[in-house]
Amino acid sequence: MADELFGHPRLAAIYDPLDPDRGDLDAYLRLAGQLGARQVLDVGCGTGVFALLLADRGIEVVGVDPARASVEVARGKPGGDRVRWICGDATALPPLQVDLVTMTANVAQAIVAPHTWQGTLKGAYEALRPGGHLVFETRDPARRAWEEWNRAASHRVTEIPGVGAVETWLELVEVSGPLVTFRGTYVFAADGRRFTSDSTLRFRERQEIEADLTAQGYLLHDVRDAPDRPGREFVFVAQRP
Ligand SMILES: C[S@@+](CC[C@H](N)C(=O)[O-])C[C@H]1O[C@@H](n2cnc3c(N)ncnc32)[C@H](O)[C@@H]1O
Repeated sequence: MADELFGHPRLAAIYDPLDPDRGDLDAYLRLAGQLGARQVLDVGCGTGVFALLLADRGIEVVGVDPARASVEVARGKPGGDRVRWICGDATALPPLQVDLVTMTANVAQAIVAPHTWQGTLKGAYEALRPGGHLVFETRDPARRAWEEWNRAASHRVTEIPGVGAVETWLELVEVSGPLVTFRGTYVFAADGRRFTSDSTLRFRERQEIEADLTAQGYLLHDVRDAPDRPGREFVFVAQRP
């Protein structure tokens, strides 16, 4: 089941306005250009920001995400009809032959269950044409990002046109080995409604992901830094031979 943040219509509708700076996508766009990708599958497309940026560049895009409310936000955006949206995940895709598969904004960490993670890497592999690339990021566990996921560090009030003020904060619920659970709270000033969304992320070590990629048949080309978050992320560039 999707986290409320992505799966509840009121929260999916404010995902973009709460995080309007998507400079994190620049490196993915650059790479898609460098690879000459003409067909892209964006796994965990969420509200479709990256898929629509690709479609704007004339690229044929399939966006897949299990959170229906987020997919509906994506579909309703200008240009949304140029992307093929699928509500689901990469373990059950229709036949595809794309040049590039992406997972932006730490989608890989939201894929917590080992069988779903293996199935996602397998599904992406099968969706790629031979020679096609898989590119995704994940937070470096050594940087312990969850230490900033507390109310003092995260509390904000955001004025959203058409919605009003929304007060938000994060709280850490549990750290259990590689699994980190946190709760987001969202309070809408307009009607006083308050929502919470619990999320669990898996923090995988670089070597673990390298082994997972190799086991699925990928060639690993590079593990890069995310230019907008130096030293905090691993960005994997793998290829289907
Ligand atoms: C932080 S959001 C990122 C969304 C989008 N990639 C972006 O850049 O804005 C994480 C997304 O991963 C999705 N997700 C969770 N489990 C997934 C799975 N098994 N397969 C694909 N996406 C998944 C969530 O529904 C959510 O939309």
